[in-house]
Amino acid sequence: MVLSTGTNRIKTAVFFSGTGSNLRSLIKFSKLKKSPIFINLIITNNKLAKGLKYGAIFKIKKKIIKFKNKDAAENKILNELKKNKIELICLAGFMKILSNNFTKNFKGKILNIHPSLLPKYKGLNTHQRAIENKDKYSGCTVHFVNSRLDSGKIIVQKKVRILKKDTPDSLAKKILAQEHKLYPKAILKIFSL
Ligand code: GRF
Repeated sequence: MVLSTGTNRIKTAVFFSGTGSNLRSLIKFSKLKKSPIFINLIITNNKLAKGLKYGAIFKIKKKIIKFKNKDAAENKILNELKKNKIELICLAGFMKILSNNFTKNFKGKILNIHPSLLPKYKGLNTHQRAIENKDKYSGCTVHFVNSRLDSGKIIVQKKVRILKKDTPDSLAKKILAQEHKLYPKAILKIFSL
């Protein structure tokens, strides 16, 4: 593994709210020689987010922004992004919906990962819904973010077989493992175009 110095790489911020396993996989990817991104900043709305530990381990600048007042929170974030010259935002389990006012500042520069084969199952409880509908497959999607929930242009998807014995938890685990590979793949795809 070759450590990147950050020069000439796309300055990236990762937004997350919880465990941060996708954050961790993006950090690891960003350290590879082939990575076009450098993670300069991580942002969370949740001061108890477990993912904060990865920021600490890898010494990445962090900002914890309360979302009590959405406009104020988004303005604070926009300021931070500007200060740090951020060019790309990766949403990774960020549980807040960004306003149109926010996203228009980063048009075509915000990515999200979602645990379903979009356009199926936007929003929450995707695994439970896929199992209840007796779907044979579910999976994950990386897409561009627009002002409508989980609706921007799809970049890449990975299918995962749903077995009869699968529960929402077991399916979530299998899909999460694929998410960790899919997000880097999406980034490589976008920036090698
Ligand atoms: C992932 O399943 C992601 O697709 C969804 O939220 C979950 C976040 O997991 N948006 P983690 O915090 O990256 O472990």
